[in-house]
Amino acid sequence: MLKLSPGLIALALYLPSTFATAIYGQCGGIGFTGDTTCASGTTCQVENPYYSQCLPGTATATTTTTKPTTTTTTTMKPTTTTTTTTGPTTTAAPPSPTGFVKASGTAFSLNGSKFTVVGENSYWVGLMGYSTTDMNKAFADIASAGSTVVRTWGFNEVTSPNGIYYQSWSGSTPTVNTGASGLANFDNVIAAAKANGIRLIVALQVLTNNWSDYGGMDVYVKQILNSPNHDLFYTDATVKAAFKNYIRAFVGRYLNEPTIMAWELANEPRCKGSTGTSTGTCTTTTVTAWIKEISAYIKSIDTNHLVAVGDEGFYNQPSAPTYPYQGSEGVDFDANLAISAIDFGTFHSYPTSWGQSGNESAWGTQWIADHATSQKKANKPVIIEEFGVTSNQATIYTTWLNQVVSSGLTGELIWQAGSHLTNGDTPNDGYAVYVDGPVFPVIKAAAAQLKARA
Ligand SMILES: *[C@@H]1O[C@H](CO)[C@@H](O)[C@H](O)[C@H]1NC(C)=O
Ligand SMILES: *[C@@H]1O[C@H](CO)[C@@H](O)[C@H](O)[C@H]1NC(C)=O
Ligand SMILES: *[C@@H]1O[C@H](CO)[C@@H](O)[C@H](O)[C@H]1NC(C)=O
Repeated sequence: MLKLSPGLIALALYLPSTFATAIYGQCGGIGFTGDTTCASGTTCQVENPYYSQCLPGTATATTTTTKPTTTTTTTMKPTTTTTTTTGPTTTAAPPSPTGFVKASGTAFSLNGSKFTVVGENSYWVGLMGYSTTDMNKAFADIASAGSTVVRTWGFNEVTSPNGIYYQSWSGSTPTVNTGASGLANFDNVIAAAKANGIRLIVALQVLTNNWSDYGGMDVYVKQILNSPNHDLFYTDATVKAAFKNYIRAFVGRYLNEPTIMAWELANEPRCKGSTGTSTGTCTTTTVTAWIKEISAYIKSIDTNHLVAVGDEGFYNQPSAPTYPYQGSEGVDFDANLAISAIDFGTFHSYPTSWGQSGNESAWGTQWIADHATSQKKANKPVIIEEFGVTSNQATIYTTWLNQVVSSGLTGELIWQAGSHLTNGDTPNDGYAVYVDGPVFPVIKAAAAQLKARA
């Protein structure tokens, strides 16, 4: 689920194409085969082993050395090269470095002990231009429910740079934004999560939002191919290479960062985007092949972090009575969970939007039970990583969360966190859970139950 966020509509604006310039282009990194020379006035600077970029030669040095891979400390770049209008850099001493979360059978572990995945979604924490003070408040509110994990967005594709964005497009040329309004801002998200003992699941792309406010797959397809066909994101070689280039830059920056629990390929991948336009040839096989290719690619550059899909968990049983089981969106949960580079399964639950109006409680309860069955069959962890209804929330969530606990489902993340911050509340699409609201005690109790579960 991702609804249009007030104030960010302008990010979707398309500009006419302009000629690419070498400034901000990629000039090196493992697997890079392009031109390594930079336009005059710029120099090739190493961001991480997988990504070097042509940056203005007069800028304060931003080069960084790669830390030895044996360290478990962060590789985050110091953010000393830029000033920020978003507030002071986090100074809270982070808890001592910890190990990486691993998957073992149907459980997660940390340093050999059970790690309970329970928490909330905050797609917005790294997109709104929040100060580090506000980021810390948001994570502190989430942590006060007993949460261990937050799922967030690690992308924002723009054609008209404005606010926080992670990649901008000039014609068919994408440029990763490593500055204060880009990855350096995400460094602050990580620091704030770490300071509150929270680990992050980071989605690297979105189906395309209503969805177009954060760009998404359609931006790649439109900019590179000038096509409206959403599913070309999964099949076109140039588009896939561009997405891998983004992955190299983003994932490569945080290879040794234990605050990241997992990467997700995309929020809610489907054959069709919000425009409903596709080539008409996309099936579950198309999306599964893409998941196989991209998950293997991430594993080839990052052996520390878990990888998941970020999908809605749709099944591919064409004769099933209800839509989420019929495979019509191009997702086959069981086939995707079987992919070797996929470490755990993800699914969402929005029965009201999925034709189950009036039967949300029972339908969602069965949906959770069915994914717990898939979990056991695949012998991998599975989490319900988004769920929501907009009425009878406390009652329905209590029923669903009891089912999570009793079915043995590995974990849960609610859509979505809410905080009262300096300049007002965080985005609320009708699902936000505030510390002082009626749903908060429900999720707090569930967190305690899940941690106590054997
Ligand atoms: C995990 O192990 C690391 C390295 O031995 C240690 O520094 C850290 O404190 C441990 N973390 C937890 C949560 O036990
Ligand atoms: C996008 O948002 C508009 C306005 O809220 C809504 O009418 C439309 O149905 C939404 N489209 C999708 C695909 O969710
Ligand atoms: C409600 O959902 C459950 C679980 O999928 C199903 O068994 C039941 O038939 C549904 N009831 C109605 C009225 O649709």
